[in-house]
Amino acid sequence: MSSETTTMRRLSSANFRRGKPIAINVDGVPHSAYEGETIAGALLATGTKSWRHTRHAHPRGMFCGIGVCFDCLVTVNGTPNVRACVTPVAEGMVVKTQHEAEATNG
Ligand code: FES
Repeated sequence: MSSETTTMRRLSSANFRRGKPIAINVDGVPHSAYEGETIAGALLATGTKSWRHTRHAHPRGMFCGIGVCFDCLVTVNGTPNVRACVTPVAEGMVVKTQHEAEATNG
C-alpha cells in the first residue's frame, strides 16, 4: 500500500464520527444539528450564509471561522453578540439572527 493510499484512508469519511443529533431553534424555526458542531456549522448546513446585518445593511455570516472577526454574531438563549463560529450547539438552544442595533461592530 502506498503512502498516498494510506493518507487517503486516514482522511476518508469513515474515520469521522458525527455527534448525536440534537434540536436547535433558529429565529423560531426548528433545525437539526449534531453535537460537537458549531452554531455557524449548523447554520451553514441549512444553506444559511448570512445571519447578521451591519448598520449599512450589509449581510454578514462566517468570515474568519476562528473567533477573530466577530462577523458571525448571533443571540443565543437571550445573550447577544455570541460568536457562532466558536460556540458549539446544544440541545434546545435558541438562536436569533442579529441586526445592527444589537451588534457590537460592523
Ligand atoms: S467568523 Fe470570525 S469571529 Fe466568527
